[in-house]
Amino acid sequence: MTLSGQLYDTLGATYTVTRRTEPRIAAAIWTALGDARTVLNVGAGTGSYEPPDRDVLAVEPSALMRSQRHPDAAPCLGAAAENLPFEDKSFDAAMAVCTVHHWRDPIAGLRELRRVARRVVVFLFDTSEADRFWLTRDYLPEFSALRSCQILASPAELAGAVGARIEPVLIPWDCADGFYEAYWRRPEAYLDERVRRGISVWDAVGPDAEQRAVHTLRADLEAGRWTERNRELIDLDAAELGARLLIAN
Ligand SMILES: C[S@@+](CC[C@H](N)C(=O)[O-])C[C@H]1O[C@@H](n2cnc3c(N)ncnc32)[C@H](O)[C@@H]1O
Repeated sequence: MTLSGQLYDTLGATYTVTRRTEPRIAAAIWTALGDARTVLNVGAGTGSYEPPDRDVLAVEPSALMRSQRHPDAAPCLGAAAENLPFEDKSFDAAMAVCTVHHWRDPIAGLRELRRVARRVVVFLFDTSEADRFWLTRDYLPEFSALRSCQILASPAELAGAVGARIEPVLIPWDCADGFYEAYWRRPEAYLDERVRRGISVWDAVGPDAEQRAVHTLRADLEAGRWTERNRELIDLDAAELGARLLIAN
């Protein structure tokens, strides 16, 4: 098991409270899967984004995440992206959603997806411009700092490793999947402990940074400072926050 698999064996306990399929992101992923009939979902977690109308097999290293899959969800094996237990070109497509940044070796993992599938579809966030999101810029600079200490491949490097093209995906204002960027127009959500526990960033920055960020955000919301600073967001229905689809045919 990878370190990240172990991470989700503790972090993942309340995952399904706030993390679920966002239909507009799912539509983009399913379109990118094209006419694939057999689909491998890698880093599958509790099963979000698995297409209901195709033959899906999932792999997920964390036993806690696997245990929360719906009884009707696709079958799921305990395995990590870097070492997939499948023959070359066993699947029409492989997909990976909100998971690559947790992999021990993202490039090796993506090459494995490419090896076992004819098409690869990855949904991830480009965090190289983390300051474009007010939460990082104004409340949690530790996330930027953390990122610059880690050796994270850029989406362009990841795409290059598997010959993928990159497409931007906008995040709707009422995004149903509670990832870090999901509540960009609903700032009060970040004051909710249940929301934060579904987002690994908060655990990565540690409790001191988390408490300070939450305290400052609450004070700014109460004083109207958040609204003053982020007026341009109020009328937006969807935002560019670095979400990307990598698609290799
Ligand atoms: C944020 S969750 C995303 C789960 C799911 N894809 C979704 O969209 O809800 C990240 C998942 O990646 C898994 N993971 C971590 N390291 C992995 C690896 N090396 N290979 C495959 N999955 C991994 C974690 O256990 C966790 O379930």
